[in-house]
Amino acid sequence: MNSAIIKGTGYYVPENIVTNDDLSKLMDTNDEWIIERTGIKERRWINNDESTSSMALEASKKAIKDAGIDKHDIDFIVFATLSPDYYFPGPGVTLQKELGLNTIGALDVRNQCSGFIYALSVADQYIKTGMYNNILVVGSEYHSGGLDKTTRGRGVTVIFGDGAGAAIVSKSPNNDRGILSTHLHSQGEHAEELTLIGPSTRRWVPEIFDGKGKDDEAIYPYMNGTFVFKHAVTRFPEVINEALTKNKLQSTDIDLLIPHQANLRISQFVQKKMGLSENQVFSNIQKYGNTTAASIPIALAEAKLEGKVKKGDLICLAAFGSGFTWASALIRW
Ligand code: ACO
Repeated sequence: MNSAIIKGTGYYVPENIVTNDDLSKLMDTNDEWIIERTGIKERRWINNDESTSSMALEASKKAIKDAGIDKHDIDFIVFATLSPDYYFPGPGVTLQKELGLNTIGALDVRNQCSGFIYALSVADQYIKTGMYNNILVVGSEYHSGGLDKTTRGRGVTVIFGDGAGAAIVSKSPNNDRGILSTHLHSQGEHAEELTLIGPSTRRWVPEIFDGKGKDDEAIYPYMNGTFVFKHAVTRFPEVINEALTKNKLQSTDIDLLIPHQANLRISQFVQKKMGLSENQVFSNIQKYGNTTAASIPIALAEAKLEGKVKKGDLICLAAFGSGFTWASALIRW
């Protein structure tokens, strides 16, 4: 069986920086509260001419360059997002068109914060079985357009940011490197604890706007923050340990843990629970907020650029989010 490596990474974040002070002009919040509860100092919000797929395009171009391949060597796309350009089709096909990639397949993944690891797991299986050689795996999110920017939405709005990250997953020349395993979980009974109800087939646009206008809360994301927090700090260590056990490794073997950037407090909790040092856990939520499916590939690309991901290192990716879904991946770089 083949082994799959991450041959190249890239990320793109919009230029427009929105600080906590900027948010305090829109709603009743403040820099101190946001930093203390989340660690976030600023996030990026896209300008009007950008979209989920346009950010993905920029991140993908960088990943292709970093991998040193020709774009026509890509034979499949897996695109993770909860904020697609259109209700349908998903943005995978838009990215295929914008990259000029002939008629290769494009698969859209809907697993929110765990989306990138789910997408990576799909790519890993296709490489392992020999079906494809180079797969473009992308996570991209445009949150800012759909957030409630009044005080009513402050518990959610201050957390999320826009951005995209991409990776080229390729057949490894040797089997001692690459993705060792991926572990995927879900618990649908908690779907409505972190959700955007409408518009959807359960609540179409005419119903939402039927006499209520845009004040209907169903058009904004809802998050039961405390409930999500409690589950996240349990599931993160659980799924990391599952990956370590599967590969007969220990937490001390991890060179770098790249958790989904949900909340700095969650990452710090996981760090302590796993007995890791601060240097072993990558954090960039301070700059970008929570970019959902984009957060891990952005962090991975940034960590690589900062020299924190080196050949031979044991890299652990882990995520938890809406669904609930949670996942991990262990990679020998
Ligand atoms: N600014 C100021 N005050 C605020 C804000 C804000 N932005 N948001 C809420 N508050 C107030 C609340 O109204 C409440 O006031 P009250 O006591 O007068 O009622 C008080 O602050 C405390 O609110 P809580 O919601 O209890 O605050 P908590 O300490 O739980 O922090 C937070 C909220 C940051 C959302 C936290 O619950 C959390 O991090 N949860 C995890 C959520 C998460 O990480 N989600 C992302 C992962 S999932 C994914 O990525 C999709």
